[in-house]
Amino acid sequence: MALFSSKKSAARLTEPQLVPEHIGIIMDGNGRWAKKRGLPRQAGHVTGAKVFRTIAKHCEKRGIKVATFYTFSTENWKRPQEEVDAIMNLLREYLKESLADFKKENIRTRFIGDRSMLAPDIQELMAEAEEATAQKDGMILNIAINYGGQAEIATAVRAIAQDVKDGALDPDAIDETCIEQRLYTAGQPPVDLILRPSGEYRLSNFLIWQCAYAEYVFDEILWPDFTTADLDRALDVYAGRHRRFGGV
Ligand code: IPE
Ligand code: IPE
Ligand code: MG
Repeated sequence: MALFSSKKSAARLTEPQLVPEHIGIIMDGNGRWAKKRGLPRQAGHVTGAKVFRTIAKHCEKRGIKVATFYTFSTENWKRPQEEVDAIMNLLREYLKESLADFKKENIRTRFIGDRSMLAPDIQELMAEAEEATAQKDGMILNIAINYGGQAEIATAVRAIAQDVKDGALDPDAIDETCIEQRLYTAGQPPVDLILRPSGEYRLSNFLIWQCAYAEYVFDEILWPDFTTADLDRALDVYAGRHRRFGGV
């Protein structure tokens, strides 16, 4: 079957107003992919990490301004220690390699989530990766690690309470912007499109504030099998959506 149903459909991918400014990707299905092959779950994470790099670069190529990838949630600590360690080691490896690799790309890397629970060397590598790409003017790549949408909002609320306590903020001035400015994604556009492969139809605590008016595209493909053509297909579905934002 042809990837696109018509010429009009293929053209939609290059029309800036039809490309999401901000895409959120829930990289799910690594474990099931490995299990299907009789491999340990970790093998799925290894392949998933490679797919992440390919898809991140393709997002930039498609003109997306911000891409946020869900890598490790605040709930993923519940997994067996062996699996958590494997994911952290992959992150370490990625950070070391990406310092060289992503320097060639026009991509700004940022990390969102609570870093304080990560190993000190990982925290250092994260800071280095952010600093090395801070001057780029291309796509912002948010990598969500130990990220939870509810924890993010709780952190923002604590900062607001502190400002009120210090007399720097009037409670009557607390509005949506005030909260938005205290999220990890402050200053970035809201999420236009959430993409979740692997056949699960939920947000799993990802960007819950930022998704207020997001479109959703779900896919049955497991993340390690996900290709640039699959991303293009999702972008095409998005381009065909009619967004109203409460209007008519
Ligand atoms: C996503 O794949 C990666 C992480 C959550 C770290 P999973 O590991 O959740 O894979 P499944 O959902 O068990 O197949
Ligand atoms: C969401 O996937 C988190 C990431 C992809 C990093 P999970 O596999 O943890 O989500 P649930 O448990 O199926 O909701
Ligand atoms: Mg999963």
